[in-house]
Amino acid sequence: MSTEEQLDHEKLMTLFGNVFNDVQGAVAILMSYLGDQTGVYRAMDKLGSSSVSAIAKEAKVDERYLQEWLASNAARGYVNFNAETEEFSLSPEQASVFARENEPTCIQGLMQGVVGQFIKEDVAIDVFKTGRGRPWGEHHECCFCGTERFFRPAYASHLLEEWIPALEGTEDKLRMGAKVADIGCGLGTSSMLMAEQYPNSTIHAFDFHGPSIDEAKKRAEEKGLTNLEFFVSDAADIPKNGYDLACIFDAWHDMGDPVGIASGIKDVLAEDGTFMVVEPMALDGMANNIANNPASGMMYGFGTLVCVPASKAQPVGLGLGPQAGPKKLMELLSEAGFGKVELAAETTNNIIFQARV
Ligand SMILES: C[S@@+](CC[C@H](N)C(=O)[O-])C[C@H]1O[C@@H](n2cnc3c(N)ncnc32)[C@H](O)[C@@H]1O
Repeated sequence: MSTEEQLDHEKLMTLFGNVFNDVQGAVAILMSYLGDQTGVYRAMDKLGSSSVSAIAKEAKVDERYLQEWLASNAARGYVNFNAETEEFSLSPEQASVFARENEPTCIQGLMQGVVGQFIKEDVAIDVFKTGRGRPWGEHHECCFCGTERFFRPAYASHLLEEWIPALEGTEDKLRMGAKVADIGCGLGTSSMLMAEQYPNSTIHAFDFHGPSIDEAKKRAEEKGLTNLEFFVSDAADIPKNGYDLACIFDAWHDMGDPVGIASGIKDVLAEDGTFMVVEPMALDGMANNIANNPASGMMYGFGTLVCVPASKAQPVGLGLGPQAGPKKLMELLSEAGFGKVELAAETTNNIIFQARV
């Protein structure tokens, strides 16, 4: 620090306050994760306003730890405390965010994804320092389940109702019976939604991460889906089956060679087939994202920890990152040889492109 440098006390306190709030948030995330994994929020949702001992009994957790946990949650506004009755409760909104798995506002998957990153912080430091790539399989399993849990509500709310109908001529084909490739399918949520909705269609789902495909197969089997098959395969090696629809959900930017892979996908499509690319919501340009995209701090963080290292672990290693923005993404699709590239839809978390030859 130079001797002439003066600290502006007000600015300092504002910054300190913001960061302190983030630290409180980081602890709150771990608290929330404990409540999720032990079923405490679900027990509270079931019981309604209750004493600590009643909640401890229902969730089968230690009462003394629970009391401390509840106080921490109440201080963050995650649960309510009634000082007169000494009972804790969840409002419908708190239940929706913390306890109810299938509601679109349930945030536990995102929390789980963040916790997964903290668990392997030593790997993150090594990757950051050395610049090496980090394959998807080098993450804690919280990363896979958390990603699926976080994305699932958005897919369940929008994929069948908005995204597929926004693609020209595709929905009718899927209803009548079409061939679909879901590439980089992870645990297969999008593949299963499409297989259930379009029983006349055949869905082939591909991912190069074997354990994710094993889990996806198990889940599809439990649902009794017979028009869906999973394959362990790199996105560069998709068979030329003449797919009417090929799609990539929240994974294209993770790939080392997005242009090469999109170019290959062009060759596995039927003559009038469509390539749908679902990417995280982003604006054009880093300065724009920093200033105007409220999720960009988190997204550039995931870019640092997950997406850019995943890409750098693959051939070409472009390291596109999750905030490339629509202009850049559309340019890359054109570069891959798609003549008609359009923004098909936008939702809070995603931007959706349709690309045709
Ligand atoms: C963020 S996850 C998204 C998973 C899934 N599409 C979803 O939305 O839940 C990214 C996925 O892309 C897969 N992936 C990345 N690069 C790949 C490649 N070159 N070939 C096949 N899969 C790839 C990863 O294994 C991972 O499952």
